[in-house]
Amino acid sequence: MRKNIVAGNWKMNTTLDEGVELANEINEKVKGIKRNCEVIICVPFTHLTSVNAVIESENVALGAENCSEHDKGAYTGEVSAAMVKSTGATHVILGHSERRQYFGENNEQLLAKTRQALANGLTPIFCVGEVLEDRENGSYNDVVEGQVEALFDLTAEDFGKLVIAYEPVWAIGTGKTATADQAQDMHAHIRKVIEGKYGKDVADNTSILYGGSCKPENAKEIFSKPDVDGGLIGGAALKADSFMGIIEAFN
Ligand code: PGA
Repeated sequence: MRKNIVAGNWKMNTTLDEGVELANEINEKVKGIKRNCEVIICVPFTHLTSVNAVIESENVALGAENCSEHDKGAYTGEVSAAMVKSTGATHVILGHSERRQYFGENNEQLLAKTRQALANGLTPIFCVGEVLEDRENGSYNDVVEGQVEALFDLTAEDFGKLVIAYEPVWAIGTGKTATADQAQDMHAHIRKVIEGKYGKDVADNTSILYGGSCKPENAKEIFSKPDVDGGLIGGAALKADSFMGIIEAFN
């Protein structure tokens, strides 16, 4: 069965000391509560090893925010999936809209990155989502469908290892959240697209997270929708209290 997940995406925030302190605080707070979801923090590459040393995997899992589409070699400044894995990380965010938008990552590269992650035993948290223009001109279902279909070269077994995050680009960091119904409609659509390719079992077992200005105040309503299995949290993941408020939305 699919899992409930709350994952933090720290983006390019916190120095190493600040990051370690935040991770430690989250680990201690998560330990102290009864919770109904898996908790993951996705942190900058520079923080992975040190953060791994202060979290306990039964409380908080660790992820990176990206990895290379290449195995290894002469790619100055890149970080491979094997390197990420070697820090103790178990997850990696791929295809975040900021990577697509500012770094030109395309479907072909994202498929290659996904293959790298899977080959190295990392769980990809694969992001999809439409921009405001797509929402306004009504093409949003097709746009997101295309982003999911870019992974359809994967086997059913491999696709079944993914976590999908639906993040409408117009809702990221803007304070403008999709309504719970908009999230539910898109999540149901994504699940149907997956079912069409891989069958009902894979579709039913895929965790689909919502991301985009998710906060303690709106998480409960969004997470209550049948096809929403949790959240990928940016801004509100940078303070232990607000991140915990979202985790507790599942209680
Ligand atoms: P936000 O970011 O919660 O700050 O909107 C979400 C994300 O980009 O993953």
